[in-house]
Amino acid sequence: MIDTHCHIIYGIDDGSRDFDSSIKQLLAMDAGGITHAFLTSHYFKGHYEYSREDYLQKLEALQQGVRERGAKIELIPGFEVFLSPSVSEDIQKKNLTMGDSKYVLVETELNGLYDDFDHHVFGLLRAGYKPILAHAERYVSVMRKPSSVRSLIERNVYIQINAGSLTGLYGEKVRQTAWILVDNGWAHLLGSDDHVRGTYKNYFEAVNLIKERIDEHTARLLSREHPQMLIEGKNIPYKYVHVERHHHDHSRRRSIWRRIFG
Ligand SMILES: [Fe+2]
Repeated sequence: MIDTHCHIIYGIDDGSRDFDSSIKQLLAMDAGGITHAFLTSHYFKGHYEYSREDYLQKLEALQQGVRERGAKIELIPGFEVFLSPSVSEDIQKKNLTMGDSKYVLVETELNGLYDDFDHHVFGLLRAGYKPILAHAERYVSVMRKPSSVRSLIERNVYIQINAGSLTGLYGEKVRQTAWILVDNGWAHLLGSDDHVRGTYKNYFEAVNLIKERIDEHTARLLSREHPQMLIEGKNIPYKYVHVERHHHDHSRRRSIWRRIFG
């Protein structure tokens, strides 16, 4: 499995506080079956700014640290870029893509997705980047109308969802929204968005829940196959067949029972 979103680099944003905590979390990830992780520190002008050298030095130190402890997990550079008027320029100048690909993980105000979103995203697309909206299910506008992500997908925006959203970490409304996105094939990538504040278990729980509620195929796409395409710089399909009709009905029926009986 591949984690496409986490804040495991220490002392750079609101994620991990120190080297030892990062190592501990990476070993837990490795033990649970994470083979690769994009270490997507926040890039937010005026809030989280740091030099690429500092970031890469820490990534290297962690990679070496886990290897010395017998773990095979591969750490890949990546950033969670807060949208701003200069975002395309920043991405280009500071190399804020996911690994060597053209994919960029972007976020904006959780309550303001549509104020400036389209404008900035079109700029990215025109510059040849492939934007991925981080934790789409946490935006107020998406919670109000989950099907609104369809128009984003139609405009070539990929959708990343947080594992913790599927397990209920951010509350019931976010949980329901995340499941609507997965149920309808409106999610491309699963990420932990782990900030090293507790155990890493949400990612593994979420993968198991997708297997149970939807199917094994969808769990594989979101946790392995699509993230692998990020690594290789291949085109992730915007639309994918994620579930057969009778499975779909089945999962819906079960989710209704779950809603009734918790
Ligand atoms: Fe994040």
